[in-house]
Amino acid sequence: MSELYPVPPDFAADAGIDKAQYEARYADSVHDPEAFWADVAQRLDWITPPTRIKDVSYARDDVHIRWYEDGVLNVAANCLDRHLAERGDKTAIIFEGDEPDDTRHITYRELHGEVCRFANALRHLGVGKGDRVALYMPMVPEAAVAMLACARIGAIHSVVFGGFSPDSLAGRIADSTCKVVITADEGVRGGKKIPLKANVDAALERDGTRSVETVVVVQRTGAGVHMQSPRDRWYHSLIEGQSEDCAPEPMNAEDPLFILYTSGSTGKPKGVLHTTGGYLVYVSYTHACVFDLKEEDVYWCSADVGWITGHSYVVYGPLANGATTVMFEGVPSYPDASRFWNVVDKHKVTLFYTAPTAIRALMREGDAPVTRTSRRSLRVLGTVGEPINPEAWEWYHRVVGDERCPIVDTWWQTETGGILITPLPGATDLKPGSATKPFFGIQPAVVDADGKPLEGACSGNLVITDSWPGQMRTIYGDHQRFVDTYFSTYPGNYFTGDGVRRDEDGYYWITGRVDDVINVSGHRIGTAEVESALVAHAQVAEAAVVGCPHDIKGQGIYAYVTLISGVEPSDALRDELIGWVREQIGPIAKPDFLQWANALPKTRSGKIMRRILRKIAENQPEALGDTSTLADPSVVEVLVQERLSQ
Ligand code: WT7
Repeated sequence: MSELYPVPPDFAADAGIDKAQYEARYADSVHDPEAFWADVAQRLDWITPPTRIKDVSYARDDVHIRWYEDGVLNVAANCLDRHLAERGDKTAIIFEGDEPDDTRHITYRELHGEVCRFANALRHLGVGKGDRVALYMPMVPEAAVAMLACARIGAIHSVVFGGFSPDSLAGRIADSTCKVVITADEGVRGGKKIPLKANVDAALERDGTRSVETVVVVQRTGAGVHMQSPRDRWYHSLIEGQSEDCAPEPMNAEDPLFILYTSGSTGKPKGVLHTTGGYLVYVSYTHACVFDLKEEDVYWCSADVGWITGHSYVVYGPLANGATTVMFEGVPSYPDASRFWNVVDKHKVTLFYTAPTAIRALMREGDAPVTRTSRRSLRVLGTVGEPINPEAWEWYHRVVGDERCPIVDTWWQTETGGILITPLPGATDLKPGSATKPFFGIQPAVVDADGKPLEGACSGNLVITDSWPGQMRTIYGDHQRFVDTYFSTYPGNYFTGDGVRRDEDGYYWITGRVDDVINVSGHRIGTAEVESALVAHAQVAEAAVVGCPHDIKGQGIYAYVTLISGVEPSDALRDELIGWVREQIGPIAKPDFLQWANALPKTRSGKIMRRILRKIAENQPEALGDTSTLADPSVVEVLVQERLSQ
């Protein structure tokens, strides 16, 4: 039995949703989803309120997902304009720069003005409804401004994380034929500069990027960058003289809002497409419920806007709710390991949301960097991105939260748009390491390898049996891949790709990916992507990549590499290959371990047996399992010996 942390009674007394309300509302939400989600949709301002609430089919030959399909609204108007009367002078964004003395407060009125000016500028550049705009930005307020400006004029943004390489950026620009790229001269994180504009220049030399007409450059560090005329334009000159009025484009609820690329188990990254109405309803509602949001809260999610967490829970959810959201440009360890907690004290942060990898890294620095700060303002702590180990959970609870603050361990995915399995802080008794219970309207099920639903306490694969408004609608440009990836493994269900255990109390414990996706520090890396980067190197014949346990990152990247004949392994070549992957994809995909392999374990039909490679990487040769289907079992013995001698 794992330890239970009951809802603190004084927290429950003030909470928006208590235990009884959670039970009742959950029952309503799954009993009559249409009525439930029609009601929740009223939290937004609609130009035309929806009358058709849900039209969904998960049938393999006809997968379609539509919510609020006759509703009309604008996301930017919901995040800005409607707050002006009551909250015009309230802080919308607190910007905390990489250096601790670099802080800016932006009110809703100011943010509205800036978004309108930039939206007008984009319109002048010829950007209109349905056009794609790539963002390759640091964590500065202009990133949120650019997202909202796109939403205001109906352009579809595609944010590419600033840590991705020029090649990765080029691939994403090409896949969705972006017309404009918005970037900055440089990014700065942990005192280090990232040459964003130079990376964009390099990306735009790659094939397939001809669609780009304009590059908009935000001045962040003032570094000298090459501006290519007439393609490159400064953000500050573009918005100069633009009006602070800009009529929001009326958007159908099912018009696309954004594309966000994420790694899958095969092939190139998928352009996950989210639409307007359902997405905004879902992220604003989950944000309000999961964090027990109150008007005076100061909310801080430490994620980068390059990931879905940054979209849903730094920008759209909080701003739709009229909350104050902190945008942090830096890293937890700079200038020192107290940074997070100093920022909490400085801005009196009440709700704090971060990743297990950050918690583990800070835990390693000991308690002192935490306990020398106050943290009295904190009410709720959250985690997202990967399973949190109970030791890290307990440290977060005891040392960071002084045993006062409920922890919401929120399970979700780029594809789900918002949080699906999570505690509600005033309603759910907590178990360290469990994401606990489904959110309203979410119907998880556990199925075995054959798709048979399992009852009660069990372990298996996590599927969701019915839709919710925040669900992705398709893979941009490839609906068949959407169907194949998510609706074919367990027909009639959305397959998450995660393994799960459900305990005797109906609590869910996510056990990690069951496909060939590695979760490194809460970021998804497809093994196939790293493998194809490796084999693109002239001296590599073959490569296989698997995940392995990593103390801080959760999972690390373990690569097995077979060199072409005549090339000898060396430490210099190992470093070169690791650097090569970093250059091809970006620093987050850099292998942590690289083992030379004379040959890889394959079945007689030539399929690489990753299960075996995973066990070798985990250093558990005794758990290799059945190796009788291998074409040449001696291959494994050699790899095990070499692993042990490392
Ligand atoms: C994968 C999704 C959701 C935003 C960040 C990651 C893992 C996510 C949890 C959690 C256990 C988690 C899953 C999921 N994951 N949150 N609370 N507990 N695992 O988004 O890059 O789309 O990755 O992250 O494996 O499938 P993503």
